[in-house]
Amino acid sequence: MTTQAARTEQPLLSVQDLKIRIETDNGVMQAVDGVDFNIYKGKTLGLVGESGCGKSLTSRSIISINPKECETTGSAVYHSESEKALHNLDLLSLPPTGKRIRSIRGRKIAMIFQEPMTAFSPMYTIGNQIMEAILIHRTKDKKKAKKIALEMLAKVGISDQEKRFDQYPHEFSGGMRQRAMISMALSCNPELLIADEPTTALDVTIQAQVLELMRELQKELGMAILLVTHDLGIIAKMCDEVAVMYLGKIVEQAPVKEIFYNPKHPYTKGLLKSMPRLGGNKSKRLDSIEGAVPMPIGLPPMCGFYDRCKDRIEGVCNTKAVPKTHISDQHSVRCFLYEDQSEGESQ
Ligand SMILES: Nc1ncnc2c1ncn2[C@@H]1O[C@H](COP(=O)(O)OP(=O)(O)OP(=O)(O)O)[C@@H](O)[C@H]1O
Ligand code: SF4
Ligand SMILES: [Mg+2]
Repeated sequence: MTTQAARTEQPLLSVQDLKIRIETDNGVMQAVDGVDFNIYKGKTLGLVGESGCGKSLTSRSIISINPKECETTGSAVYHSESEKALHNLDLLSLPPTGKRIRSIRGRKIAMIFQEPMTAFSPMYTIGNQIMEAILIHRTKDKKKAKKIALEMLAKVGISDQEKRFDQYPHEFSGGMRQRAMISMALSCNPELLIADEPTTALDVTIQAQVLELMRELQKELGMAILLVTHDLGIIAKMCDEVAVMYLGKIVEQAPVKEIFYNPKHPYTKGLLKSMPRLGGNKSKRLDSIEGAVPMPIGLPPMCGFYDRCKDRIEGVCNTKAVPKTHISDQHSVRCFLYEDQSEGESQ
């Protein structure tokens, strides 16, 4: 499998040194702290980690939809294949409410969320809302837009589309709303789909259907996916590469097989141990690593996993920031246990 560092092709999106600070009553929270990753055309990168580690803030920052209080630095360089003006463009340099990023949102980069009600207004029919997105981004012709909307509803497995088109969000079941949200997101043929816990709220059967649908549409449309999830089962099924996040940092990154068969970071190993087994409760959250995630406020330079880590080296892990070590061109980790196994630079 080709991997991040081994690839020579240009990534569709390259996120570098992403940092997000939030002023809170208790001090400045460093919620995302120097995140780097690349996303490639037609591939899926999974972002996994416990609640609060910064997955949503990271993914939302790409299209500048985080709340105002989030102070974001770093870069997210986009390389559109289909539009020269969107080549080599740092999305983070654009004003968050400006015309440019608004024209990219929905059209080039679409996002789906855990709760489809956040994507739809209860006031308008599902069909009108999908059509509206198509009218903004794809065609001014209402007839054509309706045709595309109906086709998209059919594509996501919603039958009786003419009738469904005129229904309101509350008339759809949760699974159907999720499908409708996917059809809205994909109706403009985005180059990148950001999916933040897209199936967490669904029951297991619908979850499998929705994931299968995303995979099929990815094959058909060749889009890249950034998939945010708690669930390593979903990662195994869907992803080409995985970035494991802890306390605002990517602590390990590798091709999916490498993460499952050759995990290095004690946190990744803990997550894998807490993964529900076949036949177990698949919706269980990854919360069984002992101890709690500290708040990222005023933390000293040291490993954030120190208090929970059984392998910690006192006097080392709690005295300095942990550099990133490339243990192969495919696999990077932030842990002092591997510092001397570097194949490339540590940073
Ligand atoms: N607007 C905000 N104001 C203050 N703190 C925030 C805000 N948004 C997020 N945070 C904090 O930033 C951290 C990262 O949040 P984020 O939503 O990215 O986590 P997450 O990994 O997506 O978690 P989950 O798996 O629960 O969705 C958390 O500690 C969260 O409480
Ligand atoms: S750096 Fe030290 S404390 Fe942190 S995960 Fe590695 S061994 Fe554990
Ligand atoms: Mg989240």
